[in-house]
Amino acid sequence: MKITIFGMGYVGVVSAACLIRDGHDVTGVDPIASKVDDIAQGRTPVQEPGVAELLAAGHSAGRLHATTDPAVGLSGSDMVWISVGTPSRADGSINLAAVETAAQQVGAYLKQASGRPLIVLRSTVVPGTTRRVVIPAIEQSSGLAAGRDFQIVFHPEFLREGSAVEDFDDPPKIVAGEGSSGAADRLFAIYSRYDAPRFRLQLEESELVKYCDNLFHAVKVTFANEVGAMARAAGVDGRRVADVFCADTKLNISPRYLRPGFAFGGSCLPKDLRAFLREAELRSIRVPMLASVAESNLHQIDALVSRVLAHRPKVVGMIGLAFKAGVDDMRESPYVIVAKRLLGEGVAVKIHDPGVHPDRLIGANKSLVQSALGHLEQLLVARVDELEACDVILINHSTVNAAVIAGWSKRGKRVIDLAGISGVERSAPGYEGIAW
Ligand SMILES: NC(=O)c1ccc[n+]([C@@H]2O[C@H](COP(=O)([O-])OP(=O)(O)OC[C@H]3O[C@@H](n4cnc5c(N)ncnc54)[C@H](O)[C@@H]3O)[C@@H](O)[C@H]2O)c1
Repeated sequence: MKITIFGMGYVGVVSAACLIRDGHDVTGVDPIASKVDDIAQGRTPVQEPGVAELLAAGHSAGRLHATTDPAVGLSGSDMVWISVGTPSRADGSINLAAVETAAQQVGAYLKQASGRPLIVLRSTVVPGTTRRVVIPAIEQSSGLAAGRDFQIVFHPEFLREGSAVEDFDDPPKIVAGEGSSGAADRLFAIYSRYDAPRFRLQLEESELVKYCDNLFHAVKVTFANEVGAMARAAGVDGRRVADVFCADTKLNISPRYLRPGFAFGGSCLPKDLRAFLREAELRSIRVPMLASVAESNLHQIDALVSRVLAHRPKVVGMIGLAFKAGVDDMRESPYVIVAKRLLGEGVAVKIHDPGVHPDRLIGANKSLVQSALGHLEQLLVARVDELEACDVILINHSTVNAAVIAGWSKRGKRVIDLAGISGVERSAPGYEGIAW
């Protein structure tokens, strides 16, 4: 396949080297003449293990080309990869100038070309960019329509500098966001020999997947360093502590606690976070990321309460009050805080939680919930169908099924699903997901 790559930076050059190695014919396009000269002579403009050898071999085989002229680079192309830079502007926003220019150049080529190469955007871009910026730029300069006349895919790159060839060859996943159904078919075909899970997504999903990865990596490093600071202050080896932390692949290095839902709560996480932060303060250790966690968690509660109040409900129903389903522990349950806030706004609240029996509550659990909600027994209802009088129903626990939600939806209730009930009809009238 003849593949044209816009942007001879780290991503573009490594991709070129690996695609040539895989048997493709690659032309690099870049406005920087010195980079183009290097590549045209089989030399690498970036230092990355393994790349020089692959480019030299590709050059000898006559399958590596480079040009500063986009039209020359695109001539006869089957697929175009756009991997130009997307740096930060002074205000932190993403600078899409190079992406827009490349898109216009591709569009100008398409206007006069008979072939229709698949367009693959690899640059990291914020969600919505391919649909709102790149596709219109190509359509305007080509006079063609995406989906009908040309196909576009957002294909995030997961390589790391220093091990980029290795990462290209052994990717954690192959992700393609499709501008139109089936657009990724030609892209996946070039990976037929690669052993990695494939994900065919919507454009915006695939754009966000890339940010998820990089943000999570940044959070992981910061988390490890902040805990490491406490370890050193406590006179222990932070790496040894991290080894044990990482050895737990059930709760720590696992999908647990990584799916969007509602705020955390319960008898341990809020209290232990507070104690750790106070201890850090006493030891003059700065842990700004961990210090911001409680504020972020409280914001989840504020945002939900505002979302509920925006529907101007008279009565709000809640499925679940304890901090999680199947227990009766309401200490620092975020749902107790939501109920209290709604009551404070003059909204009536009815709660169904089969795990909570007011007559069986004891100790701190009882006194805390009583001080927050007064006479809990007056808010609790024994059966789910007793929530029929509610205007808005919050699904906090997965103790009702999709059929119950469908029934409420049919009867004009507003349902806000915090639990991600499986099989629910997301487009049903009145249904809202907390993060979907
Ligand atoms: N570097 C990484 O490790 C990495 C990993 C994954 C994803 N990414 C993302 O990939 C993209 C590229 O990153 P990079 O590090 O390779 O960038 P880079 O800055 O090293 O290279 C970008 C290249 O694009 C060229 N360019 C600018 N306008 C052009 C145009 N109109 N036509 C052709 N070329 C043009 C520049 O001259 C430059 O050579 C970015 O969005 C980045 O966030 C980077």
